[in-house]
Amino acid sequence: MSKNAVINLDGKDIELPIIEGTEGEKAIDIRKLRAESGYITIDSGFGNTGSCESTITFIDGAKGILRYRGFTIEELTEKCSFEKVIYLLMYDKLPTDDELSSFNEDLKKYSTIDNDLFKSLFSSMPKDAHPMSILSAALSVLSTHESENLNPLDPAQVDIAAKKLMAKIPLIAAASYKYSKGEEFNVSDSGLNYTANFLHLMFSNGSDKYDLKPAVETVMNKLFVLHADHEQNCSTSAVRFVGSSQANLFASVVAGVNALSGPSHGGANQKVLEQLQSICDDGGDASKFIAKAKDKADPFRLMGFGHRVYKNFDPRAKLIKQSCDEVLNVLGLNDPLLNVAKELSQTALNDKYFSDRKLYPNVDFYSGIIYKAIGFPVEMFTVLFAIGRLPGWITQWKEMHAVDNRIGRPRQIYSGENERSL
Ligand code: CMC
Repeated sequence: MSKNAVINLDGKDIELPIIEGTEGEKAIDIRKLRAESGYITIDSGFGNTGSCESTITFIDGAKGILRYRGFTIEELTEKCSFEKVIYLLMYDKLPTDDELSSFNEDLKKYSTIDNDLFKSLFSSMPKDAHPMSILSAALSVLSTHESENLNPLDPAQVDIAAKKLMAKIPLIAAASYKYSKGEEFNVSDSGLNYTANFLHLMFSNGSDKYDLKPAVETVMNKLFVLHADHEQNCSTSAVRFVGSSQANLFASVVAGVNALSGPSHGGANQKVLEQLQSICDDGGDASKFIAKAKDKADPFRLMGFGHRVYKNFDPRAKLIKQSCDEVLNVLGLNDPLLNVAKELSQTALNDKYFSDRKLYPNVDFYSGIIYKAIGFPVEMFTVLFAIGRLPGWITQWKEMHAVDNRIGRPRQIYSGENERSL
């Protein structure tokens, strides 16, 4: 039976429908509020505002649950390739073997970028350009060569654009690294799966092929899967918002890349490692940095800590922490940053400031230590997040178009000067 909420404004009862999700989450549907009452709602940071109904990802922040299309991330990371998860997200079904291999063939077919285009694109950028800026610029340039695949209202064009984005993002990411080192770009190896091919693009040197360790491939696959979607976060909301203006998929994804680059969002993984390094360089005393984080007069924040939604633990961080120990063991590395990270998190977890505010290590806290162990420079970390998140952006964009593509256009309360004369 449908229920209503009743809000009394200026002596008038306004009835607003209650919406309940399949996991029992409840919302007050305020779509008629302004028309019926003249009032709007204000919710800076949108902490209480649902922007859509979605069938893609479920998060329970109190219990530390994250599921894509109903499957837990624990099971998906254990049993699925990244490609299978991309398919699951994008097409809302687990692929059959034939569907998966045909999908993989498409990704491989599109896993090229014209070398001259690539070289001229990079030649306009300094060697130390940040890979996220390169990614943003490169995707915009690529879109200029995709005019036949840019109609957001044509599902066939959208499907090709989506596959091309997925196929080409590893090439751009790896090329940004190669460019910074002054090395030739590698070409894709069609014998390799998505993750292995990306590692080859990054770390092979001409005919000197990257020595791919199964444990490294497994952990990278797991990290990509763990980042694949996270419902209405900042970058995903940016993608949906830009897409709601009927901007094409490339343009919308570029908005996501730029939103992700900020240190409060995906850019945090780079900042975490830089912070751990500075704690290490400073003698390794975690408590000094905890004190700085607690000092309200100091803008310093403990990077990789805290989350808008997770208020108990971040299930992704839990899985990544396990992998971190495993991969360092396999690679025979003993990174002092891991010890600093563990001490920092232990000290914070026992501190009232952090427990009162429910601040726990998030997805970015341990991932950088793994990336570093594999050989990625810190500047690349956020791009790795972007590769992982791309299927989520694409899927959310498609859902927005299929379900409710009304242009995003929030209201405001004007609090400036009343009309006056010069
Ligand atoms: N270090 C110290 N204090 C913190 C931190 C932190 N990392 N995070 C939040 N707080 C405090 C904050 O000062 C505030 O205290 P008070 O109530 O006394 O004013 C309280 O906790 C609530 O913080 P908030 O900023 O209102 O929380 P939010 O939900 O708006 O922000 C966040 C969430 C993730 C942006 C924030 O926790 C943060 O800046 N963390 C560090 C950056 C980071 O790790 N970002 C990655 C997020 S996970 C991956 C992703 O989304 O990309």
